[in-house]
Parts: sequence; structure tokens; C-alpha cells
Amino acid sequence: MFGKFGVVVGPIGRKNGGKMGCGPQLLTALLFVVNTLIASSICQASKSAAGAGLYPVCTSCHGAAGQGNRGMSGPKLAGQQGFYLLKQMQNFQSGARGTAPGDAKGRQMAAMAKGPRLSSLAALESLVAYIESLPDKAVAPTVQGDVLRGKSLYSTCISCHGEAAQGLETMAAPRLAGQSDWYLVDQLRNFANGERGYAPGDYGGRQMKAMMYALSTETDYRDVVAYINTLTP
Ligand code: HEC
Ligand code: HEC
Repeated sequence: MFGKFGVVVGPIGRKNGGKMGCGPQLLTALLFVVNTLIASSICQASKSAAGAGLYPVCTSCHGAAGQGNRGMSGPKLAGQQGFYLLKQMQNFQSGARGTAPGDAKGRQMAAMAKGPRLSSLAALESLVAYIESLPDKAVAPTVQGDVLRGKSLYSTCISCHGEAAQGLETMAAPRLAGQSDWYLVDQLRNFANGERGYAPGDYGGRQMKAMMYALSTETDYRDVVAYINTLTP
């Protein structure tokens, strides 16, 4: 069905010397665009359906709806940006994350990422498409801090994570707002002590590690995260 429209549309550009008319040609072209959009959303939906079969092993630590499970130290995944989820799975697989001495939690996750069913890029993409389809429900805040102080600390973070901490793909920076707050504090500590952002090829992690000059104490971590808790992406 999609192929047929593709064939019809093919020669159109050439007919009017490259100019697009307003008659049937435009209609056909519009149909082509609509079909391409439908085709890509069908493709996304079928990817996510394949990913649903890969997600059950993740539920014990990340929750059935990707809401996170603090008891297992598994952060919320729902609502996180797909590019970042994919990158982290690849980092755990390659050893760019989860291999530093002392990083027991990262090591646990790395073992999960190396499961035989996740060895292809296609499988990881399907799994990520499925996680992206999960409902992004708010989680209860657990971190207390000085929000006003946190706001001023957060000014250094905006260029990469965005004003609303929504994450900026162009900067390879994840969403922070609405994610498990205890996990954000944990990760700041990991960047500071070299358990994350240590691998030579881990550009994103190294960049974030370099930014830790802006935060120096546990109080700083808590204050900035308390401010992030007030943001809605
Ligand atoms: C045995 C528990 C466990 C299982 C099962 C597990 N994870 Fe994790 N996962 C963790 C822990 C713990 C972390 C946090 C690691 C850290 O503290 O650095 C994590 C972190 C992650 C992250 C990084 C999130 C971020 O914001 O940086 C992603 C992505 C992830 N897990 C995806 C998955 C997927 C997908 C599966 C299923 C294939 C899975 N995990 C299964 C425990 C688990
Ligand atoms: C120069 C860009 C840049 C700036 C500025 C920056 N970050 Fe990041 N941050 C990143 C990138 C890139 C990552 C993803 C690292 C990776 O790929 O492992 C990240 C990751 C994080 C994470 C881990 C999130 C997760 O889900 O695991 C936290 C927490 C974080 N940043 C907090 C902050 C805070 C707080 C500030 C301001 C003090 C800040 N960042 C400033 C680029 C930046």
C-alpha cells in the first residue's frame, strides 16, 4: 500500500520542471507525506511491541511501568529521553559505565545490559521504544534541600539540561526533571568520585564529570536536586 503511493509520487517533481502544482500532484504528494508519517508511526509501534517482550526482566528493579524501585536502586526510566536510554545501555555494554571499582550498582546494571537478547542494536532500539511508550507518572520527591540556593546552582546546568531540566539531545544531556531524585544525588556523587565519566570514549560522561566543579558538597547536590524537583519538563 505504501509502496504504491511511492511509485505514483516518484515522477511528480520532474513534470512541472520541478515546480509543485496545486492540482492532483499536490494531493498525491500530500498523500505521500501522510503515508510516510503513518508508516513511521506504525514502524515505531511495531518496534515498541517487540520491545515489550524484552522488558519483563527489567521490572524487578525498574518497575512494571518503568517508575523505578528505590529498594533495588533502580531509577525511573519512564519519561526519560530515548537517545539517552540507548546511550546508557550501550555504555553499560561497552564498559564505559559500570566497571569502575566500587560501583556495585553500575556493575549490577551492566550485567543486565549484557543479556544475550540485547546484543543487537535493533533489540536495544525496540526496548527503548517500548520504555518511551510507558506512561510518565510523577514520583514522590524524597530529597529535601534549599530550593532557592539550588536554583542559583542550577544556572550552570541550563545550557546542557535545559531551563526546565527537560534534557537536550543536541547536548547529549538527559532529562533530570521528574526522574528519581535520590538517583540524581547518587549519580552526582558518582561523577564526583570517578565512578562515572571515567572511560576515554565516554564523552558525555566526561563532560558531565568536568561540570562537577560547580558542585562541591553533599548539601550542593541536595539543594540543586531539590530545585530540579520543582521543575516540570
Ligand atoms: C538487578 C536490578 C536491575 C535490573 C534487573 C535492571 N536494572 Fe537497570 N539499573 C539498575 C541499577 C541499580 C541502576 C543504577 C546504576 C547506578 O546507580 O549507576 C540501573 C540503571 C539503568 C539505566 C540508566 C538510567 C539513567 O538515568 O542513567 C538504564 C537505562 C537501565 N538501568 C535500563 C534497564 C533495562 C532496559 C533493564 C532490562 C533489560 C534493566 N535496566 C534491568 C538495576 C537493574
Ligand atoms: C556541558 C554540558 C553539561 C552541563 C553544563 C551539565 N551537565 Fe549534567 N550531564 C551532561 C551529559 C552529557 C550527561 C550524560 C552523561 C552520560 O552520557 O553518561 C549528564 C548527566 C547528568 C546526570 C545523570 C542523570 C542520569 O539519569 O543518570 C545528572 C544528575 C546531571 N547531569 C546533573 C547536572 C547538574 C546538576 C548540572 C549543573 C550543576 C549539570 N548536570 C550540568 C552534560 C552536562
